[in-house]
Amino acid sequence: MTIDVLAPAKLNLGLEVIRRRDDGYHDIATVFQTISVFDRLRLSPATEERVRIVDCAESIGDNLVERALALARENALTSRTWYVELEKRIPLAAGLGGASSDAAATLLALAEHEGKSSAGLSSLALDLGSDVPFLLQGGAALGSGRGELLEPLPSLTGCWLVLASPSVAMDRKTAQLFGSLQPEDFSDGARTQRVAMTLRARQFPDPSDLANAFERPLTERLSNIDALHQAFHRAGAPFIALSGAGPTHYTILPTLEAAIRIARQLAEERPIPMRVLLARPTSSGPLLRRYKTARAAGAL
Ligand code: C5P
Repeated sequence: MTIDVLAPAKLNLGLEVIRRRDDGYHDIATVFQTISVFDRLRLSPATEERVRIVDCAESIGDNLVERALALARENALTSRTWYVELEKRIPLAAGLGGASSDAAATLLALAEHEGKSSAGLSSLALDLGSDVPFLLQGGAALGSGRGELLEPLPSLTGCWLVLASPSVAMDRKTAQLFGSLQPEDFSDGARTQRVAMTLRARQFPDPSDLANAFERPLTERLSNIDALHQAFHRAGAPFIALSGAGPTHYTILPTLEAAIRIARQLAEERPIPMRVLLARPTSSGPLLRRYKTARAAGAL
């Protein structure tokens, strides 16, 4: 049996870091939201395990799909070996949760194949990364703890998102940026609570609540983030927010026309090397489709 999965990217609608913990992680407060930018995975049983990245010039680094397969076997979620084709559409190491979503999609596909419930996957998911439990379920959620304590929220609706993902390579980006936080970057989570409250009321968050603790250290490390801010403003973006540990920045627009206008201007101007994406919020996690007869393992 072959299983195809679409693994969505996520945005952080605000990301506050509250404190450093004794276990080396940080307590955070964030609102996660999945969006309509997807990696595609195709999993087929095989005699030898292999993950092939399709059409991707950049190096993937630490491959979370391989780790998810190994962890699934160690925990008897699957007993076989798999051939996985992975088509990367989500910008890499961009603050959009691409690798985490690929790992979540892999766990869900294996559970589906073995006829097991996805209910027990959260702790395996957390072993793979702090964002992976959210990406198992998708939609919108208020995240606390490391990001794994989740309260589901209604997804944003009736809006479009324009994203700009600068091309930067930063080794162990997330760990580095958490490590460079200063006491003044910490906050109490109140703004994130307000974002959650507006989503519960099915309203749009106040842009001033979409603060992100990584904005300061990121701007200090990457000299061209200012140019990106200015380009968003010149294009008419009502505000600009940072997702995850960056460097993807985004804005939210009420109409497709406004979103296309801003995306087009950003793409034409390209003040720095970057990808511009247009997306909508989505209300679910990985989307699975399975084929009863095994297909030849060709290109996706
Ligand atoms: O959980 P994940 O593997 O994505 O985290 C990568 C690194 O980011 C961790 O090793 C840790 O240094 C840092 N981190 C953190 N607090 C979090 C999440 C990640 O300090 N809540």
